[in-house]
Amino acid sequence: MNIIFIGAPGSGKGTQSREFIEKYKFVQLSTGDLLRSAIAAGTVLGLEAKSFMDQGKLVPDDVMIGIVKDYLEANKGKSVIFDGFPRTVEQAKSLASMLNQQNSILDKVFYFKINPLILIERLTGRRVCTKCGEIYHVKTKPSKNEFVCDVCGGSVVHRSDDKESVIVERLAQFEKNTGPTIEYYKSTGLLVEIESSLAPELVFKQIQKVIAL
Ligand code: AP5
Ligand code: MG
Repeated sequence: MNIIFIGAPGSGKGTQSREFIEKYKFVQLSTGDLLRSAIAAGTVLGLEAKSFMDQGKLVPDDVMIGIVKDYLEANKGKSVIFDGFPRTVEQAKSLASMLNQQNSILDKVFYFKINPLILIERLTGRRVCTKCGEIYHVKTKPSKNEFVCDVCGGSVVHRSDDKESVIVERLAQFEKNTGPTIEYYKSTGLLVEIESSLAPELVFKQIQKVIAL
């Protein structure tokens, strides 16, 4: 089974992906996490992606499609949660043909609808573990020690693109590029709207009910 989590920055895609991979047999393709790992490793991809990410802009389609192609090659036959990909209509069309080449299909696209007023608070308060990717929030889900991950002991940090000036641009990019992508999936009949302003366990239940795992 292949499913997409699509939604604004901070709508909870990463949080729900972690719940689903823990409880069910999915692998998570988070393009944001892959790019951050490339930046941390100082690879050519990381160097190219950093300037876009620091400004809250999207990394070019050809780069992203290449990354996803490699990932799918390496994870043939597995059930994938696409977290943060596709974000443009071009990426969505490429994904369809990549899955088709593997005789695979896209099952559902979950659109995490959310009141935009909540997002700034969620993102400015978010903290993440650089080692295992655990997601925290200073108010609603703090780690026991501010800088140490409860799960793996790794470093807990504030993402560099989680400052208000960059968040505003990320939200603008979401409207401009991902808005049409959501419309595209609506036209395919695969789109399911999820109310993601609710508590994490209630968001989880809405998705679980649809895929009936
Ligand atoms: P990416 O890392 O994908 O960031 P994003 O899409 O902006 O989404 P976020 O990770 O910020 O939010 P999320 O929805 O995962 O929320 P989370 O669960 O963490 O991409 C980063 C950058 O990489 C992009 O800007 C772009 O430059 C580049 N990029 C990536 N993919 C690309 C692509 N395909 N094409 C081009 N460029 C690409 O939750 C947020 C906070 O809210 C947390 O603190 C959490 O604890 C809290 N929270 C979560 N759920 C709830 C809830 N239900 N109730 C209360 N609090 C909650
Ligand atoms: Mg995320």
